[in-house]
Amino acid sequence: MEEAAEELERLAGEIAEHDALYHGKDAPRISDAAYDELRKRNDAIEQRYPELVREDSPSHRVGAAPAEGFGKVVHKVPMLSLSNAFDDADVRDFCARVRRFLNLKEDETLAVTAEPKIDGLSAALRYEQGKFVLGATRGDGREGENVTENLKTIVDVPKTLKGKNIPDIVEIRGEVYMSHEDFAALNERQKAAGKPVFANPRNAAAGSLRQLDAKITASRPLRFFAYTWGEMSALPADTQAGVIDAFAKWGFAVNPLFRRCASVDELIAFYHEVEEGRAGLGYDIDGVVYKVDRLDWQNRLGFVSRSPRWAIAHKFPAEQAMTVLEKIEIQVGRTGKLTPVARLTPVTVGGVVVSNATLHNQDEIERLGVRPGDTVVVQRAGDVIPQIVRVVEDKPRGKKKFVFPETCPECGSHAVREVNPKTGKMDVDRRCTGGLVCPAQAVERLRHFVSRNAFDIEGLGEKQISAFYADGLIARPDDIFTLEARDKKSLKKLKDREGWGETSARNLFAAVDARREVDLDRFIFALGIRHVGETNARLLARSYGTLDNFEAQMRAAADREGEAWSELMSIDGVGEVLAEALTDFFDEPHNREVLAGLRKAGVEAVPLPAQETGSPIAGKTVVFTGSLERMTRSEAKARAEQMGAKVAGSVSAKTDLVVHGPGAGSKLAKAQELGIETITEDEWMEMAGA
Ligand code: IVH
Repeated sequence: MEEAAEELERLAGEIAEHDALYHGKDAPRISDAAYDELRKRNDAIEQRYPELVREDSPSHRVGAAPAEGFGKVVHKVPMLSLSNAFDDADVRDFCARVRRFLNLKEDETLAVTAEPKIDGLSAALRYEQGKFVLGATRGDGREGENVTENLKTIVDVPKTLKGKNIPDIVEIRGEVYMSHEDFAALNERQKAAGKPVFANPRNAAAGSLRQLDAKITASRPLRFFAYTWGEMSALPADTQAGVIDAFAKWGFAVNPLFRRCASVDELIAFYHEVEEGRAGLGYDIDGVVYKVDRLDWQNRLGFVSRSPRWAIAHKFPAEQAMTVLEKIEIQVGRTGKLTPVARLTPVTVGGVVVSNATLHNQDEIERLGVRPGDTVVVQRAGDVIPQIVRVVEDKPRGKKKFVFPETCPECGSHAVREVNPKTGKMDVDRRCTGGLVCPAQAVERLRHFVSRNAFDIEGLGEKQISAFYADGLIARPDDIFTLEARDKKSLKKLKDREGWGETSARNLFAAVDARREVDLDRFIFALGIRHVGETNARLLARSYGTLDNFEAQMRAAADREGEAWSELMSIDGVGEVLAEALTDFFDEPHNREVLAGLRKAGVEAVPLPAQETGSPIAGKTVVFTGSLERMTRSEAKARAEQMGAKVAGSVSAKTDLVVHGPGAGSKLAKAQELGIETITEDEWMEMAGA
């Protein structure tokens, strides 16, 4: 009983803290699922001990993320994001890139649509035989939450589609948002009821949509603009503009500013027009989105990483404000990088309170000439970490220059700036040389390992990891997977630790167990190898197939003269810096021990499925040589990858197929010499179904 009361007190504090971060600062620190877990735990204890329900219990509050999770919805077509353009030149580059990819003639018009980028949250609405049947949030792009009932409360979301010839399956995607007027009125009501106010309309829209009780959502006036689609059994038109027209006819709200432009100059003129009219729109937008109009071209352009090649978001300049830099602190990252962080007198920038900004590195502090005590201009753009733009020189200046430490503030090891052997230039970052002896690096590595796009272990957040690390329970990733077995034998059980109980300990063990099998790309990403982000992890997972093969090849690649090194370097997208980071990582005994430990603990990396099953080149290595005439090189590469092949830049014994166009020289000769299958561009076009 005493333990239950303590747990409720702790949960009330912790949930209130997350609510404040979520609503007030738009900076949630834990995943929605982890948050839901906390609320669930709170509710379960309250149900058992109703007499212990606190005055400040989270269950009395609405306006926070839901008390229980929503059902999950797997998006049949992933919900991707957009890459960004920040100035006119980026927009010109975008159009030029598209033209090059499609090999358009100079006089051929590239029609591109333009529309405002709505600052809300995206949602997918599924209609079957014209009836609204399922609505979901974006989530992580692969899987969102089922918020059907909540979406039904939105006036702009038709329950039944209007008109004729509606495809059997229609999945409309667009943005849920709240108008300025409705946002102000909602906050007035929140204030009057003594409830927390929302920092901006986007947070208010997100908080309102993600209510378990759809009646609460219904009382929050949300709106919806339709701007794209997911799964469709048929498309109503063959252009972006045509499809959007059909959406309007079916009863959706589409943005009235939507325009089809015939040149880059028109796009840029549209951007400036929208920017000028922005304040009078009545809802928040954070830029303009451009999309190639012809859908057959969109298909050919396809995707790179998580964004389409056929669209781009042209962002408005960042919002700025003035404040005082109180002090500079050093944070040590997962890779040992020392990052100076500016602690600021809190200031509101574009509706969000900012109290920290990154200073990136030593050179940046010098470039800005900034000293603690200076008044500075800070800016934030979208979800980017706030930055310091400049020192305000006519305000009183700070007295003392900041001296960048040459030792790690966490472990006292030397912190050095490496010199790149090739360029002879000093690295901009200073790094701690302490490796695993440095607690910051170890904790950061562990945090990265369990993070959402890596092993994604629920209930193992920063706080828990730091505490487990401090108590010697988890020092390396593989320790996570032996925690339960060790706990069974230990006298001091996890359930008896402060802040833990029977259920939470059981939940954690279950969450760990659920991740004994993860996709190979997540596994590789989780290792925290320098320069290996999600994209490179996927590339490596596709190229090497299995974890055993990947590890063996990376170890073999330590020999720069050997085949494994040349194979690694021949992967399109792998350069020397990445290749070296990989071989260095596997050369390090500590890292190999972690991998062995993970295997021993029964952790398995699941190979990625071939991208297109049944494709004749799935899992094969293809090389393109000579000049292709019917498809650009980038398009051919993208298509081959889509068909599950690896594309290499040079021919070796590992090559399965060489596609040759006119002018093919030594690569074709080498392929013939090695007896590798070679085909012409026409044969390739047939194989690619293009
Ligand atoms: S099109 C394949 N159009 O921006 C991506 N997105 O960074 C298709 N957004 O998650 C998205 N207004 O939430 C598109 N007019 C618009 C948009 C828009 C806002 C958001 C959307 C998306 C994010 C992409």
